[in-house]
Amino acid sequence: MRAPQPSQKRKITRTGTGSAAKKFILRCVLCGVEIDGFARWFASEQRCPECGSDQADVVYRTAAPKIRNLFNQPPNGLPGMWRYFDILPVNDRKNVVTAGEGLVPIDRWEFLEDYARKRFKIRCRVYAHRQDDNYATGTFKDLSGSIVASVLKENGIKNFVASSTGNTAVAYARYLTAAGISFYAFIPQKTSIMQAAEVGCFGQNVFRVKGDYTLTKEMAMAFARKNKMPLAGGNFDPMRIEAKKTMMLEWLRLLDEFPTVYIQALSGGTGPMAIAKGCRDLAPLGLCGPMPRFILSQSSRCAPMAAAWKEAKKKGFPEGWEKTYPIYRNPQTRIATLAAGFPKTYPVLAPLVRESGGEILAFDEDATPLIARLVAFERSVRIGPAAAIGLGGFFEALKSGAICDGDRVMINIGEGIRRAPEFLVTMFKEKAEVASVEDCRLSDRRGYRADVWNELENTVMNGKKAADDRRGR
Ligand SMILES: Cc1ncc(COP(=O)(O)O)c(C=O)c1O
Ligand SMILES: [Zn+2]
Repeated sequence: MRAPQPSQKRKITRTGTGSAAKKFILRCVLCGVEIDGFARWFASEQRCPECGSDQADVVYRTAAPKIRNLFNQPPNGLPGMWRYFDILPVNDRKNVVTAGEGLVPIDRWEFLEDYARKRFKIRCRVYAHRQDDNYATGTFKDLSGSIVASVLKENGIKNFVASSTGNTAVAYARYLTAAGISFYAFIPQKTSIMQAAEVGCFGQNVFRVKGDYTLTKEMAMAFARKNKMPLAGGNFDPMRIEAKKTMMLEWLRLLDEFPTVYIQALSGGTGPMAIAKGCRDLAPLGLCGPMPRFILSQSSRCAPMAAAWKEAKKKGFPEGWEKTYPIYRNPQTRIATLAAGFPKTYPVLAPLVRESGGEILAFDEDATPLIARLVAFERSVRIGPAAAIGLGGFFEALKSGAICDGDRVMINIGEGIRRAPEFLVTMFKEKAEVASVEDCRLSDRRGYRADVWNELENTVMNGKKAADDRRGR
């Protein structure tokens, strides 16, 4: 995959605690040099001390039988995803900062299976990885919050800086508070005061930057440099990758089958990169199938990767295709978590998607309330707008023929409604006010179901004929 074979491995001198306690090292993805833990990584500003790359894999020394046991044994006394402590990047259990995140339900969503079968004659199984009720923030950012806080605590770091459009700042604020670490969050001015309050209420620092997200990031970087504080890493951050890797560990623990397709809303792509990392680690032990096909969905209002992918595909992926992508300044999406107009990770992520046999596509942002209403109706689960973009990707994929008979589809429901109350309002159609009982209409739930599905048919699925033609039906 992304890792070129290192021509040589040089060992960096150890720092920090004795090596006997250490269960992992970091290995630079570009030059292969081994970095002896996070103390060294932070000392070199979260970059490889040899070549400056910001991509490093955590490599565990955990013995294979111990890893195999993680999926069968009763939990080790640590809550949540920390039952996988032996393959998470913290050496001492006392440094674990957790709110019990990660062990969320993975549901079968038969209503989507029925739809695929009836509408497209595709028999597939559909699972929803329900991060919508995660403990701290109701998003899958809890996973990173917990790992980052634990790693920082273990390495004696007292201050941390991050720029964020929302979810990350809120998750980090909560976990860093629990770890006794001071946090400086930079969020764009446009972000709601509620978001700022969710960080500030813990007594953490939040700066609303007069400008867009790009300026916010620059300011956070300058602040971190000026005050010599570590800054939250980007999409390649090994702490974030290890956190999201736990999603696939849960598939192994809870399901009898490994997914053939993984669907997620796409911003920078840490999620799919983390699943791929997990597969690289565990496939040699025979614990998982091959990497699933990554079907990644961007909002139609901010889809630079989907646009680049479409173009590259049209041209047959010519030499150097992965280096060509547009950059959108001030993307006009209302989904702040997916507002990444500069697709910096595309040159790494897109080849990974191609290797997996997957797709990068765009889903109509205006149709997200409809998707969320459908899920609320069928499963009494309230998903957030980014999750609706992900699930919308399932419908797009059906339409374009990217889901096949026999597929086992895992959809990451990455956030619940808790983080986006304004989105809840768009899911609610009947806004009538009444003055008398005569004004109160009766309505049958079955009628509502028909309305929701019809609307889906008429808007989202209106390209179905083209897909049928492509399939030769
Ligand atoms: C709910 C949700 N879905 C998807 C994403 C995109 O994540 P990734 O970095 O894997 O593209 C994010 C965060 O950016 C998110 O908060
Ligand atoms: Zn390197």
